[in-house]
Amino acid sequence: MAGRIPQSFIDDLLARVNVLDIVEARVKLKRTGKNYSGLCPFHKEKSPSFTVNNEKQFYYCFGCGAGGNSLGFLMEHDRLSFPEAVEELAKLAGVEMPKTEGPVDHQREQRIKDIYSLLEEASEYYQQQLRKHPSKDIAVNYLKNRGLSGQFAARFGIGYAPPGWDNLLKKLARDEATKLRLEQAGMLINKEDSDRYYDRFRERIMFPIRDMRGRVIAFGGRVLGDEKPKYLNSPETDTFHKSRELYGLYEARKYNQNLERLIIVEGYMDVVGLAQYGIGYAVATLGTATTAQHLERLLKMVPEVIFCFDGDEAGRKAAKRALDTTMPVITDGKQARFLFLPEGEDPDSLVRQEGCEAFEQRLNESLPLSDFFFKTLEEGADMSSLDGRARFSNQALPLIDQMQPGILKQMMQEKISELTGLSLEQLISVNNLQETTGTHSTPEPDYYHGESDYSDDGYFDYQPEPNHFQPERKSGKEFVKGGKKSRPAPPGGSAVHFNPGSTAISILLHLPALAVQCGNLDILANTEDKTERLLYQLNRYLQENPGVTPGILAIDWQEHDHLKPLIQQLNEIAHQTPIIDANNAQQVLNDCLNRLQERHLDREILQLKSQPHLSTGDKQRLNTLIMKQAGSRLRKAPEK
Ligand code: UTP
Ligand code: MN
Repeated sequence: MAGRIPQSFIDDLLARVNVLDIVEARVKLKRTGKNYSGLCPFHKEKSPSFTVNNEKQFYYCFGCGAGGNSLGFLMEHDRLSFPEAVEELAKLAGVEMPKTEGPVDHQREQRIKDIYSLLEEASEYYQQQLRKHPSKDIAVNYLKNRGLSGQFAARFGIGYAPPGWDNLLKKLARDEATKLRLEQAGMLINKEDSDRYYDRFRERIMFPIRDMRGRVIAFGGRVLGDEKPKYLNSPETDTFHKSRELYGLYEARKYNQNLERLIIVEGYMDVVGLAQYGIGYAVATLGTATTAQHLERLLKMVPEVIFCFDGDEAGRKAAKRALDTTMPVITDGKQARFLFLPEGEDPDSLVRQEGCEAFEQRLNESLPLSDFFFKTLEEGADMSSLDGRARFSNQALPLIDQMQPGILKQMMQEKISELTGLSLEQLISVNNLQETTGTHSTPEPDYYHGESDYSDDGYFDYQPEPNHFQPERKSGKEFVKGGKKSRPAPPGGSAVHFNPGSTAISILLHLPALAVQCGNLDILANTEDKTERLLYQLNRYLQENPGVTPGILAIDWQEHDHLKPLIQQLNEIAHQTPIIDANNAQQVLNDCLNRLQERHLDREILQLKSQPHLSTGDKQRLNTLIMKQAGSRLRKAPEK
């Protein structure tokens, strides 16, 4: 589809439209020097890391990595397709879109446009029927009996498809082409082997499903009685993909300025009922299980997602499935929780009985992912026998291993150790976990859980059953190499985060003001370690540009060929390294710098020692270095 619009036209458009105008119309910005900054619209944040550079005509966010030009912004922010974004820009610039070749794509675009507008018309029609149709009382009474207020029926655009086979058909199908479109929109069904059509939705309460921009993309229809199926949903169409869309997301965003969390429920009426009782931040999947796509989408918008399924067997099953889907998706800084409702209740019924406050209380007390995970696994396990514990860890560790590296993953691995009484080293060898770390000559400092010590409490001699035991456990061995007995190596996948270089970088990105206290890091300027060199550059830049935000840094560095490639590296570190509690940041930063200094010393000493002949100067230097090394080993507290 791209390429259909001539590149020269796009270039010309980009030159005419100001990125600042586009962004400013959608995000509150403040001028900072030659740049503008504000809270990033693409992720939740409290302090601005989103920057717009008008001169360079692009935007960048250090918090989430979003970045691009006007077109990219429109696509991401307004959720436009590429051609739609070009069209939008053309409108703003007041230029005509060029005539396009490629009739096939053009047809598709036209078809989708037609579908959107027919769905909108259908939605209006259904809402009107709820007010006007001769049998409207049945529908209105049904909704009243369910306690729905007019205000919330209107907010969600709830309507009524009257009884009959051809109401919508007659109303909207002006000609054969429109009939076909209505079929493509999922609203009409083509009678087999004929050119006859009939309404898909008949005698149902209609829930329009909207996309992020508020366009109607599909419907869910509920029967008024006990007929089956209770709910009928639009089929997959050009505009509707169940695995991506969530009912109520548009409304949740529209009516909540500051969304802190979202609840995922099972049903349409749960979303509507909760909203009416003051919990306007629930969304529902559309008769499908929650997908990774759903979750990724939600977690981009809010830091916390709470699953809330019905208090029945199906609900509990759905929760377990949701857990499996969430584990690989969740990252540090994001939270998933699980709320279990009393038997026989769903969110709609419960919030009506208990009210908003009690329901929110339940939400606040809902189980964090890790608790639910362990609870689920422990249920089937016999934790009193060695064998049971081994089986338990065998089940749990591979699941945890799928998680993104980070603190949560690490804590869960430690929890297994606690529950099984097996040390992490033992667990690693038993389960042959994938190792992501390089080799370390000494264990890295352990900032995240202090001196937790998994002592040998009698299970040290434990020999797992042969089938659990993996003799070729390269990873486990490599991992503990050189580790002191008193302190276990961090569990699989996490040691990468104890890299003092990237930890220091991450701290400086979040708290750039700490750079002034770092002194000069010249010893890192020419090391072989690219993270250390990056730290040097970052520190220098931050010291030379006090008050700068990471977003501005990203823009500045774009201008320098030697710095530009480092932005990506910074970005990765910012994402992969857990954020350290601001209270400890300075301490951790000092420790990192000391550690780096020691490393540097070690390297220099080694290098000198490996030379066959040392000049007198070299010998003196070596002596000094060794003294220094000894000094820094003795010193407990950091020097700075
Ligand atoms: P439930 O059966 O739990 O219904 O289905 P509910 O939401 O509590 O409905 P009310 O309160 O009786 O009106 C939960 C969801 O599963 C999908 C729908 O999305 C529904 O909201 N579903 C259910 C279907 O798609 N088809 C069905 O026949 C039933
Ligand atoms: Mn219900």
